[in-house]
Amino acid sequence: MKSRPFTRLAPALLFIGMAPAVWSQAPGIQPNRLAPYVPSPAPVVNLMLSLAGVSDKDTVYDLGSGDGRIVIMAAQQFGAKAVGVEIDEDLVAKTRDRIKELNLEDRVQIVQQDLMDVDLSPASVVTLYLLWTSNKKIRPNLEASLKEGTRVVSHDFRIEGWKPIQTEKIRGPGRNHTIYLYEVGKQ
Ligand SMILES: C[S@@+](CC[C@H](N)C(=O)[O-])C[C@H]1O[C@@H](n2cnc3c(N)ncnc32)[C@H](O)[C@@H]1O
Repeated sequence: MKSRPFTRLAPALLFIGMAPAVWSQAPGIQPNRLAPYVPSPAPVVNLMLSLAGVSDKDTVYDLGSGDGRIVIMAAQQFGAKAVGVEIDEDLVAKTRDRIKELNLEDRVQIVQQDLMDVDLSPASVVTLYLLWTSNKKIRPNLEASLKEGTRVVSHDFRIEGWKPIQTEKIRGPGRNHTIYLYEVGKQ
């Protein structure tokens, strides 16, 4: 007897339906992880902060701050106040040690939290190096809490539905990087 198309497709459909649940239970993978830890090369960080025109009048938020290189450079080289938001406990501990070593505790703070839950209203600049899908997820938060004029700089991944006011490319150690600059109110 011939099997009907639905009977043949059923196992595949079942797998696709179950995949997110199985994936989120896999060891080492957390559903609220919006990107893996991949640090931005220093020249890329410098260009991100320069394009955003960061100065001592700014409060920079790096969402998913990794080893803290963006917030540290924002404070050390651009004179800004900076807040890093990072979910990974080890990265938070390492960054806090580094901030202490550099005597930047009065200007740089690391918050161990899911970046989806952070109040972004104090930010005048937000930096991102997440993923295209993550930017899509956080866009409603950005739109709800950022004030007009806040600059948002994203390394390599666009914010879908927003129009950058500037896009720059830079050659990194191994590849080309793209930086997208947005301004709230002009996006
Ligand atoms: C690609 S790295 C970027 C690190 C740093 N911003 C840079 O450009 O060098 C992304 C970081 O986001 C962190 N991250 C992922 N999901 C997060 C979440 N839900 N809340 C806070 N941090 C998160 C990761 O642990 C990782 O350190």
